[in-house]
Parts: sequence; C-alpha cells; structure tokens
Amino acid sequence: MSEPLVLGIETSCDETAIGIVRGRTLLANEIASSVEEHARFGGVVPEIASRAHLEAILPSIERAVKDAKISLKDLDAIAVTAGPGLVGALLVGTASASGLAQGLGIPLYGVNHLAAHVSVDYLTHDLPTDPTIALLVSGGHSSLLKVDDITGSITKLGATMDDAAGEAFDKIARILDLGFPGGPAIDREARNGSPTAIDFPRGLTMKSDWETRPYDFSFSGLKTAVARYIEQTPTNVRADVAASFQEAVVDVLLLKALAACKSTGIDSLVIAGGVAANSRLREVATERCAKAGIQLRIPSPALCTDNGAMVAALGSLMVSAGRPATQGAFDADSSLQVERVSL
Ligand code: KG4
Ligand code: ZN
Repeated sequence: MSEPLVLGIETSCDETAIGIVRGRTLLANEIASSVEEHARFGGVVPEIASRAHLEAILPSIERAVKDAKISLKDLDAIAVTAGPGLVGALLVGTASASGLAQGLGIPLYGVNHLAAHVSVDYLTHDLPTDPTIALLVSGGHSSLLKVDDITGSITKLGATMDDAAGEAFDKIARILDLGFPGGPAIDREARNGSPTAIDFPRGLTMKSDWETRPYDFSFSGLKTAVARYIEQTPTNVRADVAASFQEAVVDVLLLKALAACKSTGIDSLVIAGGVAANSRLREVATERCAKAGIQLRIPSPALCTDNGAMVAALGSLMVSAGRPATQGAFDADSSLQVERVSL
C-alpha cells in the first residue's frame, strides 16, 4: 500500500482534533477547541476537557470525512493519540478510535503525541528527514531528540528539568495579565517591545552545565527573574518584558538545539510542538541555521499546535514502514515516554 488513507484522532488536551491524510497529503484537519471554557481558570481543567471531547468527537469526525471527500469505508487505518496527556481526555479518543477501527475492520495505531508533533513536518517537507535532531517544545514537554526513524527509533538527548517552554510562556503571560494561552499573547505583545531591553538569564548555559547537562533545559530561574523584575520595576514596559523573556527562551532553545546538531554531526533540525508557532523562534532559528549550514524544518504555525493531522501523519508513516498495528484493547498512557512511538 503506497499511499495509505489514514484518519488521526487527537484528544490529549483541550483540542478535539481529527486529521485525514493520504500518504503525505493532508485532506482534512478539523479542530474543535474547548480553550475558551478553560480560560477563566487560567489553565486546562481535565474534567471540562473530557466532557468537551465527548460532545465534539463524532461531529468532528463527520466534518473531517466530509471535508476530505472520502467515505469512512475507504480508510486503510486509524491512528489515535495514546499518550502522553490528560487520561480522561485521552480515553475519549482511544475508545472512539477502537470502536471505529473495529467496526470498519481496519488496523488501529495507538501513537505517541510527541512523536506525532515531530512527524507532522512530513506533510510539508518531503525531503529525507532521518536522521534529524528534533527540538520538541510544547505546553507539557520540552526536549531535544535524535530521530533515527520517526516510526520507531527516537533517542532523548535532553529535556526540561522543570517547566516546559510553553508552560513558561503561559506562566509569564499570567503574571503580565495577558490571558491564556500565554504563548500567542506574548508573541503578539513582544512585537512592540525590545528583545534586548532586559538581560534575563539563560538557564543551564554555564560552562559546568555544558559539561554535565548540555541538552537539558531549565526555565524556572527565568520565570523567577521575570517575576522579580516586574515586582521591583513598577514602571516596567510590558512589551519589553515580553520581548526580552521571549528572547531568553528562544536563545537557549536554539543554543542547545544547534549544539546537538554539531556534536552528533547531524545537519538537520526539525522544530515542533506548540511553541514552534512562535514567530521569534522561527525567525532566529532561520538565521542561525542558515549560518551554521543546518537544514531547518518547521511545520506551518497551524500544524505546530495540537491537531489531528499530526496523528494521521504518524499513522500513515507507520503503515508505510510496515510497523505492526496496536493489538487488542489498550489503555491510554498519560505519561507515555517519547521514545515509545506506538503501543
Ligand atoms: O503542542 P501544544 O499545542 O499542546 C501541548 O502538547 O502541550 O502546545 C501548547 C503550548 C502552550 O503552552 C502555548 O502557550 C504554546 O504552546 N504556544 C506558543 C505559541 N503558540 C502556542 N508559545 C509561544 N509562541 C506562540 N506563538
Ligand atoms: Zn501537543
């Protein structure tokens, strides 16, 4: 089967998202978000997310099928996010996917949300991408990966020791009164500020850190520094704080990603996950990778944040690689490790 038709289901957090791909071609990408229901709580409330998924999932599948101009019975396989994520939210996706796959008599792939973030790039750039270094930056995870084969061989080089990059954006946005989710709000605010106005710390970049934890991240010191700066500088300019904070995150993410490329001799970098939608990260990454002779790939902003296309893309790659489908009933795994691409 050269061009498998795959439906992907993503319900790990607050997006009920369905994607349909044929091979590497995106046919539908349907997203229903419950983000507004969580905004007044300043973060995603698991119970609210699960209920929203239950309401949205069937209509979303119907819309996606209609959009893609296919019929369910044409599908070759179904892929679903099996973890990591909120367990109640994940279960809505896995239960629906199991039922659908069983009813249609087609294989089901329970896949890793993090690997799916990286694999969505294959829908945009059809260059040979393995091996590659991947900088995965989302709301719940930040890590540097060596990807030898996205369908089954991922090595974690390093990860955050405290907050994820997106989480840092969300927390600083709250302190700055910019609302939730914070990433896009800081991205917008920062456009009116100076990235060099305040010299915020770059976590884990001391000489000793490069020796012991070259590919790990830490954003808690930065968060404290920003909070202290705001407290001690009553006349602070919000746009400058946003821009300087964003610059510190972007700088450290790219310092470590490029160092990983250099030390492994891999001249290819994929940046994925919600924070990869950040305009400054995309800009600085483009500059620095061009200078270093590294081939850079970043999916379009809409494919960086959670979506179903990424799950379908990984499913399609699994089918093409001849990987075995997930057998029997399986549990969602809220803390699924990134090295485990599928169940
Ligand atoms: O990958 P994602 O959609 O969900 C998770 O798997 O976590 O990532 C969501 C995170 C949130 O923390 C959000 O604030 C951040 O990605 N984000 C951004 C931007 N758009 C989304 N961070 C910085 N700049 C953006 N433009
Ligand atoms: Zn995600």
